[in-house]
Amino acid sequence: MISDKLDDLQDYPFWRMNALVGDIPLPDGHDAAIPMWIGEPRHGVPEIARAPLRGSFEGYGVYPPIEGTPSLRRVMAGWLARRYDLPEGLIDPDRAMLPVQGTREGLFTVALAATPRAKGGRAPAALLPNPFYQPYKGGALAAGAEPVFLPCAAGANFLPDLDDLAPDLLDRAAIFYLCSPANPQGAVADLAYLRRAVALARAHDFLLVSDECYAEIYDREPPPGVMQICAEDGDLANVVCFHSLSKRSSAPGLRHGFVAGDPDFLAAFLRLRKYAAASSAMAHYAAAEALWSDEAHVVENRRLYREKIDIAERILAGRFGFFRPPGGFFLWLDVGDGVEAARRLWGEAAVKVLPGRYLAEDRPDGSNDAQAYIRVALVNDLETTRTALTRIAETLG
Ligand SMILES: Cc1ncc(COP(=O)(O)O)c(C=O)c1O
Repeated sequence: MISDKLDDLQDYPFWRMNALVGDIPLPDGHDAAIPMWIGEPRHGVPEIARAPLRGSFEGYGVYPPIEGTPSLRRVMAGWLARRYDLPEGLIDPDRAMLPVQGTREGLFTVALAATPRAKGGRAPAALLPNPFYQPYKGGALAAGAEPVFLPCAAGANFLPDLDDLAPDLLDRAAIFYLCSPANPQGAVADLAYLRRAVALARAHDFLLVSDECYAEIYDREPPPGVMQICAEDGDLANVVCFHSLSKRSSAPGLRHGFVAGDPDFLAAFLRLRKYAAASSAMAHYAAAEALWSDEAHVVENRRLYREKIDIAERILAGRFGFFRPPGGFFLWLDVGDGVEAARRLWGEAAVKVLPGRYLAEDRPDGSNDAQAYIRVALVNDLETTRTALTRIAETLG
């Protein structure tokens, strides 16, 4: 009655974290831990979303279209073109753009539409960075692709080494998930890297899925996006990117994002989505339209994250391999043993962080590239963040 395919999915990192600390009491005087384990922004949902959320009561009386409304698609395509300075016409709102109900579901279901039964007569593969956002693996397994985990070494800017990929593996790849800015390390792929990834996707005919959900949270320079490469030759073939309002607009509860890119692929994806995926309430589409149309709240969000990274630098510089993440809002700290550190931070400091190990696949010999790390999400207000980081520094010495 229960699919044995589920055996390949280990428990989700957040469950594992709860199990890890389940038997450890918080230190005296604390009835809650400061939450830094989940990338749930807490800057508050921007006010401009309030009116559309209130205003579309009648919208609950209709089935909302899975492809969103024409005006939402236009607004999203306009945002993407402005953000990456794309030529007019590259992103046709009706052919190259679809909303998703949070990019998590889109990143999962995209593998179902991209994975053939066999590629060149062989079992298809899905290429994933390691560590990685966990739904990539879930999607790959559900689609019947063999997940192949690509090491992301600190010395290689925490990105998979594209020159290290065997042509044989690339030939059987159906899909390649790239995450930039990367969760968890905050690494950013430059244009040369993205150009090479697009070229490989076209040469070996797989889908390059560029997860750019953290593209609007950055320290100094706006991270480049894969659509800039498509703009160079006006070709969207073999490439899609994902963007989300969860991080950009601190609205994870809206469950809204989009996928843009290869129109032929998106036509097939939409066909699948008509069967399988959930559309969003009309009020949510309207709120998303308001948020994609506004930049002021994004500038303020970025300012707050930058201020928190400044605080982190003052407290942690020179320790735990601290570095300013070029993108995103996570600190990726080398604490020797991330699992042990997470337990101690819970029990001695009332701070909840995530062991890096829970975000990474073990190597065949049982070792884990992220064993030494913890991921610390800078999602709380400034004072809470300062308190938590001070406790981390004091506890882990
Ligand atoms: C790398 C990455 N991609 C995608 C998502 C999904 O975000 P959402 O489903 O809220 O759009 C997350 C959420 O944490 C993430 O870290």
